[in-house]
Amino acid sequence: MVFSYIYTMEERPKAAWTIFCKNRTEDFPETCMMREMTEPILWMCSRREFPTWGTGDYRSTALIVRGQDGTTACDLRYRGYRILSGKYGLSGLPAVYGAEKEAQTLEVVLEDGRTGIQVTLLYGVLPKYDVITRSAQIINTKENIIYLEKAASACLDFVTGKYDVISFYGRHAMERNYQRIPVSHGNYVIGSRRGTSSHQYSPFLILTEEGTTEDAGACYAMSFVYSGGFQAEVEKDQFGQNRMLMGLQPEQFSYPLNTGEVFVIPETVMTYSRNGLAELSQNLHRCFRNNLCRGPHKEKVRPILINSWEASYFDFDGESILKLAEEAKELGIEMLVLDDGWFGKRRDDNRALGDWQVNEEKLKCSLGELSAKIHTMGLKFGLWVEPEMVSEDSDLYRAHPDWALQIPGKNPVRSRNQLVLDFSRKDAVDFIFDSITEVLDYAEVEYLKWDMNRSLCDVYSAAAGYQGKVLYDYVLGVYDFLDRLLKRYPNLLIEGCSGGGGRFDAGMLYYTPQIWCSDNTDALDRLQIQYGTSFGFPISAVGSHVSAVPNHQTGRKTPLSTRGAVAMAGTFGYELDLGNVTEEEKEEIRQQIKEYKQLAPLIQTGLYYRLSNPVTDEVAAWEFVSEDGTQAMMQAVMTQIHGNMTGNAVKWKGLEEEACYQDAESGELYYGAALMETGILLPIKSGAYQTFRILLRKVGS
Ligand code: DGJ
Repeated sequence: MVFSYIYTMEERPKAAWTIFCKNRTEDFPETCMMREMTEPILWMCSRREFPTWGTGDYRSTALIVRGQDGTTACDLRYRGYRILSGKYGLSGLPAVYGAEKEAQTLEVVLEDGRTGIQVTLLYGVLPKYDVITRSAQIINTKENIIYLEKAASACLDFVTGKYDVISFYGRHAMERNYQRIPVSHGNYVIGSRRGTSSHQYSPFLILTEEGTTEDAGACYAMSFVYSGGFQAEVEKDQFGQNRMLMGLQPEQFSYPLNTGEVFVIPETVMTYSRNGLAELSQNLHRCFRNNLCRGPHKEKVRPILINSWEASYFDFDGESILKLAEEAKELGIEMLVLDDGWFGKRRDDNRALGDWQVNEEKLKCSLGELSAKIHTMGLKFGLWVEPEMVSEDSDLYRAHPDWALQIPGKNPVRSRNQLVLDFSRKDAVDFIFDSITEVLDYAEVEYLKWDMNRSLCDVYSAAAGYQGKVLYDYVLGVYDFLDRLLKRYPNLLIEGCSGGGGRFDAGMLYYTPQIWCSDNTDALDRLQIQYGTSFGFPISAVGSHVSAVPNHQTGRKTPLSTRGAVAMAGTFGYELDLGNVTEEEKEEIRQQIKEYKQLAPLIQTGLYYRLSNPVTDEVAAWEFVSEDGTQAMMQAVMTQIHGNMTGNAVKWKGLEEEACYQDAESGELYYGAALMETGILLPIKSGAYQTFRILLRKVGS
């Protein structure tokens, strides 16, 4: 893989350093080469590894540093490099990790003599996933304060070629919709100004050569390992050169650096495939699953859960929760998750966020007792929290109004009737940490759903002084809390959540190996949401539940089998009132659970292939192939139904052409080539949204 290059000019226009990072990490030293370039070529082929202002490059930059006098020029010159075994880590920030045998680090030191700004570019190379990560440390070595106004961790310049850009836009309950458009002259910019990675755009971008498909063609991805505001850009300049950038959201960002202070730009994970989008996604899936997610759960099949939210919302007590647990146990479900409403005076979403004391009056017992009873039934117990929030009607807000983010003299913007707690200040974080750990110390809790239900708007911290740093420090506060929590409870499984999938990013995956994908549990909409999500994130990270019909978000009715099939393409669970489920449906749920238990290793660790586009095709189909190639499973849902339906054949991917595969149910035998070239014709079943599953085993394995 020829993927990344360093380009700095010692003496313009004479020297350009180009380092090609090949697929083998040990190639670094041998492949360093120096090229002489002439002025005209330089103009046309001006590839910059870390572009800044004041260098004659007028395209979008990676770094903008403002001095006290208001100037922003920063002319970084190469000073040296180091190559280290193993992947670098970042203090206080999530990052891909890699041991000495699987990864290498390249550090390149640059300096601007005038301003005293020193930059260390950090590269992590993980050849087995074709992944290169990028981060940078900025140090102020001079006496005057400087302000970082823009900080991107990755920049890729493409001198020639025609490209498409793929991004994922959305909204609450309809996240990560796929959009592919040709790159044209100008700037294509997506991002979040909300203090979180957001429902609106995923911090993930793909650039493909024109014509690239799932199975062929070159494509490049950037995924930001950060859960706050971001900006991703593609710029096509007057020469047709394309630049791709990923970094922090520059609006509302102005980070002061005093003498000797260091700022770390969050990491971007980059990957490349010349074999199309399926391989690109698989690179990220494998890297995130194995080298970003942590803890004992990352490789385990996660417990099948029942969540109380769509079962009863705020309307529950201890008895109704125990009844739900009993019904769940009887069906084979493994964990009960008590969602919002168990604390303070929380009877609706107007109050009590911040008061993390168990409402024993509502539960009619302590949480310890409730959890003990659930464990006695043979179930695990999980709990919902929303640590970053505060309701104005709460004891916490009455005691510490200055702990809420709000601008003095301005009426704060409320969203879901709540304010955001100032997680940039340690005293607030410590207080919430102590309140929540008091609950967790007392009751046996194996799982935590970490929710976050609004964007940050009135960003003012009473403790901060200069406000331009608050958004970044807020995210560090969240990470610090999560880190401490995992250290204290190393076996705790945390599921991320933010009004559904509003903070579904690689940064959260470092702490929470699964994330609730969307508040929309409608199976048809989920096909689209999970399709978009699959481009950048592993299936094992996608929280996905079977819910009731008519669906609470759309009113649509889909068969239980379809809801099961769609939810199984993720970390599986249920979220409905089991008291309203018929005996026949219960039997089907028991069956689903048995099937999921058998299939989960293949689903969670298999190579994932998108077989169709659920938005434009009549069939939504996807496939898992075990890494050893001995098993493959295709799942399809008919998204449309017409009179006198025409046939639909789904073509398989990722099989061995010459190998013979047997359908586990019918016993039919097929050659891999036939399955991939012709496919299997789906039977025509009447009724909307029918689902089909075919499990194949390679003969002789
Ligand atoms: C938003 C989440 O996405 C839901 O699943 C649920 O936990 C509610 N918050 C609870 O308030």
